Amino acid sequence: MASIASKTPRFVPRREGPEKLTGRALYVDDIHVEGMWHGLTIRSTEAHARIVSIEFDPAVDWDAFAVVTARDIPGANHVHLIVDDQPCLADGVVRHREEPVVLLAHSDQEALLAARDAVRIEYDPLPAHFDPEAALSATDPIYGSDNVFKEIRIGKGDGAAALARADRVIEGVYRTPHQEQLYIENQGMLAEWTAPDRLTVRGSMQCPYYVVKALAPIFGLPESHVRVVQTVTGGGFGGKEEYPNLIAAHAALLSRESGHPVKLIYDRMEDLAATTKRHPSVVRHRTGVDAEGRLVAMEIDVLMDGGAYCTLSPVVLSRGAIHCAGPYRCDHIDVRARVVATNTPPNGAFRGFGAPQTIFALEVHMDRVAEALGLDPVEFRRRNAVGPGDTLATGQNVGDHVSAREALERAVTETGFESRRREFSAANEAPRGPRPWLRRGIGLSLFHHGSGFTGSGEVMLASEAGLEVLPDGRVQVLSSQTEMGQGTRTILAQIVADALGFPADWVETTDPDTAVSPNSGPTVASRTAMVVGGILSRAAARLRSETEAAAGPCPSPEDLCAALAKRATAGRVVVRERYVQPPHVRWDDDTYRGDAYAAYGWSCQVAEVEVDLRTWETRVVAFTAVQDVGRVIHPVLAGGQVEGGVLQGIGYALYEEVVMEGGAMANRTLTNYIIPTTMDTPPIRVFFLEPEDPAVGPRGLGELPMDGPAPAIVNAIRHATGADLREIPVLPERLRAALGSGRRT
Ligand code: MOS
Repeated sequence: MASIASKTPRFVPRREGPEKLTGRALYVDDIHVEGMWHGLTIRSTEAHARIVSIEFDPAVDWDAFAVVTARDIPGANHVHLIVDDQPCLADGVVRHREEPVVLLAHSDQEALLAARDAVRIEYDPLPAHFDPEAALSATDPIYGSDNVFKEIRIGKGDGAAALARADRVIEGVYRTPHQEQLYIENQGMLAEWTAPDRLTVRGSMQCPYYVVKALAPIFGLPESHVRVVQTVTGGGFGGKEEYPNLIAAHAALLSRESGHPVKLIYDRMEDLAATTKRHPSVVRHRTGVDAEGRLVAMEIDVLMDGGAYCTLSPVVLSRGAIHCAGPYRCDHIDVRARVVATNTPPNGAFRGFGAPQTIFALEVHMDRVAEALGLDPVEFRRRNAVGPGDTLATGQNVGDHVSAREALERAVTETGFESRRREFSAANEAPRGPRPWLRRGIGLSLFHHGSGFTGSGEVMLASEAGLEVLPDGRVQVLSSQTEMGQGTRTILAQIVADALGFPADWVETTDPDTAVSPNSGPTVASRTAMVVGGILSRAAARLRSETEAAAGPCPSPEDLCAALAKRATAGRVVVRERYVQPPHVRWDDDTYRGDAYAAYGWSCQVAEVEVDLRTWETRVVAFTAVQDVGRVIHPVLAGGQVEGGVLQGIGYALYEEVVMEGGAMANRTLTNYIIPTTMDTPPIRVFFLEPEDPAVGPRGLGELPMDGPAPAIVNAIRHATGADLREIPVLPERLRAALGSGRRT
């Protein structure tokens, strides 16, 4: 590992570790407020229907309950996001199963549960579409005139002409399923009106300011009258990016109606059935190559299933589309990407945000292209991976700091990829030994992931973060970045400490509270370390220079601390900075040309699998992840991010299947929605390629490791068995079908 010019130790204790380990951490469901009631949600049992009537059984004393329907919403009945199409409560029509229709609250949880069945909703069913391809040609769209939430075209060169000229054209269609984020802590919110026009909401979330912006129009309040406080959050993975807006609104409506604080906590079944999932996708590739095995044309069609409302689908699609041609050099690229409406619960943010879908398609397809050319997967990628000065699909010049080839070579070396591959091929040809039914394979994926919001997103966010000097001369970070287990509080403290020359524990961090925390943007999009860390670095540098300008040079941390303490005695010392776009970044939203992201992480992952031809089960037996994410701030936390992303990717590849029946998740329990456990976790080797140049700061890491496992595993299964797999998860049934009925033992 290269040495890094960082003064602050990289192995510092995780900030919120002790309180979580000792059980002192208060999650929203641990919080009790005097006079608090409990809420619940009554949901649609139809995928698409008119609501004919809502009846309340007269046997129940409804006066003892708070009852809320769409009629009781004081302001706008929508959950504000990109397009305000999603009602807070269904009004006259439902467009998906589990859509919220009625809210109830009561002081007693048992009375509340008993009343659930006393509300009867009568529906008049309408035609429903569950398949995105069918929804595209539907004559009765539920969104706009064609069910298309968003269409994106990315053009570079002339794809059609280059395909016509190509020596070979290889085609393929690839499909990915829903996936559940499966944070350990279910969604939950606690709402309380502190005055008739002052609302406070506490709960589990990634983006406190998204919640403020969603609540204000529902109650017709100025944003300054809505206070949102993050409670200790047990995982998010994108699942707590936008969904908390809705549950916060529901808790607040019930609190307003009842006159009591109301806590609304989902149980696991409700959380699985009702909340957002990863967008399913269908991706079609037509790829032209020349006689030397170089990519000359890529035509890619991306279709994503958005579910019944738009949520974040346009930006999920955008990230998916921008990454769909991968870290490859190709002069002629033609991308058409669409996300469509279906009558299923809305899909939304999930770690990777569109990229795992299109990178799955790309990296399985690239192996198939290599195969068609008679090249091995490594040699094919050596010939085509981007290097310094090359351009990506949007025309973005990757500049000098591009590590696709370095990641590939390091992964190949660390795993002995080429010799392992030959060894496994030979063993699979002539199975011997005590378990002749086993086949082994090795596969890889090469990919990149943009850090921060896409295109002009960071400029529009105009994030603000800062520092406040504490009375003893230590400093407090001011930001709205949330800790959800990934290490935000620890790494932001390290970044600030490093800029000030302080030990890390001279920097305090807290969970955000919009009453005091500036809006440093959402905790999403692999943006915290790079974007907010960058703002805080500048704030710290300014705090230091202003302090030294007044007090004279402070050569030691103790000198600076003393000078800061002295300044703080004279009044509050607060330094705030805003995001400044790096000067080289150019992006055109209309043409989708330019620098889609200010920086990328680069990665190559290698999976080794063992397939049992008796049961068609696949096990990942070894996994290697090599990545360049710039400077690594905290190696243990960073390693954990990679291991967790890889494991979520293994689940995506092999185990996780959302079974949809009539537009609803049928397997809505943890006994039949299967995710990998420790027993399914292979040894994961993690390597960071850190740049020698200390000026190269941290880049995004949260999402990158989720992008590569599924294609690497499917490529490894093909190597092991020859199976023609174009869809995940590779359940035994799917592998059996791909291999034909004959047992190849
Ligand atoms: Mo994320 S999937 O950008 O919370």
